[in-house]
Amino acid sequence: MPPSPTDSTSEKLQPETGAPQIVWHHASVSLDERIVRQRHKAGVVWFTGLSGSGKSTVANVVDQMLWKESIRTYLLDGDNVRHGLCATPAILLKDHSESFAKRFGLGFGPEDREENIRRVGAAAGLLVGAGLIVLTAFVSPYRNDRQRVREQIEKEYGPETFVEVFVDTPLEICESRDPKGLYKQARAGKIANFTGISDPYEAPEDAEVVLAGGIESPETLANRVIAELKSRQWLPEVI
Ligand code: ADX
Repeated sequence: MPPSPTDSTSEKLQPETGAPQIVWHHASVSLDERIVRQRHKAGVVWFTGLSGSGKSTVANVVDQMLWKESIRTYLLDGDNVRHGLCATPAILLKDHSESFAKRFGLGFGPEDREENIRRVGAAAGLLVGAGLIVLTAFVSPYRNDRQRVREQIEKEYGPETFVEVFVDTPLEICESRDPKGLYKQARAGKIANFTGISDPYEAPEDAEVVLAGGIESPETLANRVIAELKSRQWLPEVI
């Protein structure tokens, strides 16, 4: 039985919620048990970098490589998550009122990005609890937002459960790729708050992995990420 809300121990369990009526329910199957059975660790591999830097491409290659080795993974990708969990106001307007869409829909202003990354961090945390290696591919331009997720994951699951991967592709290369034509629109002033053009990108200062995007192949870069996970003993020895 979980402690009741009036039980003094329950307040000790989560003093920071400020809401004693909301009590954490401990899972019957522990993460440790899941890890023993699946024979690999769980954690977050957080890809950050400019739009068009190759985050999604490299993360997908890592995902494929791990999938082939029966490692339990899931990729949260910025563009996909912004269709649902972090939908734009325009998407929400289809099924909700204008005030609802305005309140919960996310754009690209600094606070919207902060909330985007907070939601993604929370979702990633739940998936880590399920035993997965969660790969995330978000521009996540603000150092504080990324740091908050790192702290939350490490607090919940222990040190070394968060690996930051900086896909360090120069703006000129990202802009020359421009796969969705967004840089062109941003330069023309048609998209506001565009990272690298009219909004800042705060590069990580001590990411665990820095990938020089635009030089080597996605496979080579993905192998570097896998090597990091091996060196941290997230993966079984045989891989
Ligand atoms: S984040 O900054 O909040 O982390 P996220 O990764 O979810 O961004 O979404 C970025 C994707 O949305 C980019 O891949 C790009 O295609 C698109 N996008 C649309 N508008 C912007 C913008 N103003 N800045 C950056 N990316 C944008």
